[in-house]
Amino acid sequence: MTAVAVVGSQWGDEGKGKITDFLSKDAAYAVRANGGNNAGHTIEIDDKTFKMRLTPSGIFTAKSAVIGNGVVINPEVLLGELENLEANNIDTSKLKISNRAHVIMPYDILQDEYQEEVKGANKIGTTKNGIGPTYMDKASRIGIRVCDLLEKETLAEKLHANLTEKNDLFTKVYGKPALEFDEIFEQYYEYGQKLAQYVTDTSVLVNDALDRNENVLLEGAQGVMLDIDEGTYPFVTSSNTISGGIASGIGVGANRLQTVIGVCKAYTTRVGEGPFPTELLNATGDRIRDTAHEYGTVTGRPRRVGWFDSVALRHAKRVAGITALSLNLLDIFSGFDQIKVATAYELDGQTIDYYPASLKELDRCKPVYEELPAWNEDITGAKSWSDLPKNAQSFLKRISELVGVPLVTVSVGPERQQTIVLQDPWEL
Ligand code: IMP
Repeated sequence: MTAVAVVGSQWGDEGKGKITDFLSKDAAYAVRANGGNNAGHTIEIDDKTFKMRLTPSGIFTAKSAVIGNGVVINPEVLLGELENLEANNIDTSKLKISNRAHVIMPYDILQDEYQEEVKGANKIGTTKNGIGPTYMDKASRIGIRVCDLLEKETLAEKLHANLTEKNDLFTKVYGKPALEFDEIFEQYYEYGQKLAQYVTDTSVLVNDALDRNENVLLEGAQGVMLDIDEGTYPFVTSSNTISGGIASGIGVGANRLQTVIGVCKAYTTRVGEGPFPTELLNATGDRIRDTAHEYGTVTGRPRRVGWFDSVALRHAKRVAGITALSLNLLDIFSGFDQIKVATAYELDGQTIDYYPASLKELDRCKPVYEELPAWNEDITGAKSWSDLPKNAQSFLKRISELVGVPLVTVSVGPERQQTIVLQDPWEL
């Protein structure tokens, strides 16, 4: 059996779509296991750009693409993506959707918005796609699952019960209008009918494939620093983005994941609120943002930008069991004088090497930087390690050393072929 999991090792948007797309050509199954349409994958194929939020990147090249039980699904968004793919002659019949995945309902999207409104200055800065409230429904045992959409009576019963509760909350707590049953019921039953052809027990499919020694690619969403347990809580998403979350989000044993690739950028970005010790609030940050087009795929928000933070990366490596790194956007530093990398933090006069849980402590942390020389050459055409300037090689070696895992791929541009493969992750 070969299962390779790909996780974001920073705050999301590390460019996981590229490596997952690259790996999926040799995968029997490419699986998504957590998050929802808060994620945004941009895939460039030939002259076409596909922006997808729910469909696994593997839909283009893997034999089968799977949305696992840990994902929360907005059916309207998913059906829209499938329509767009079909319009571009991509075969969507190979998509499989877990019957246990939870459905994002209209009241979840509104609840996300109202919760943020009430929090005011303390808002999380969510994508307002209803992700948090859908996982709240799941944990409260009132969630509507994909299998419920297919059973008219079950859907009606659950929706009635949920609307009673949610409408009370909306009208009495938030002072907002109540939602009507009929329109939502008809719409969501229809979505269920359209999705029915894809729905199955995906855990069985994936476990059987592993038993047959087929390659399975597990695509994580967001990043370790946004994990509900291990991230910068409460400024996190509401699912487990670490490899353990991927295992439970598809229904395979944790011992099935022997290779975990952590995807990172040559610098760091984050969207939304929350701590970010290496953030650059200056012209260097603006330069990285503009050169790298750091604007959200889903929301279009300018991303916050900072130097590479090896303290956060070592934390990610620990909690997600990262065994190799895939580094993106190395090309951004062409023409820079120097690049900084945080090697540790200084907290109240002490040098520390761990990521503090307390936000107050994090606030007092000052990154300890190491400066590395950059390079002038345009590296966007580099095909191998030896095509890279010495300084770029030294930078990569230092990142690998600081994180303590080997690099498997280095990306020097957005196109599929602009990837230097140092080691085939399927062979690790
Ligand atoms: P939510 O997942 O919409 O609830 O948002 C919670 C936090 O996670 C916010 O700071 C979002 O900006 C962040 N977030 C969620 N999904 C992504 C992603 O795919 N990339 C980067 N940040 C994300």
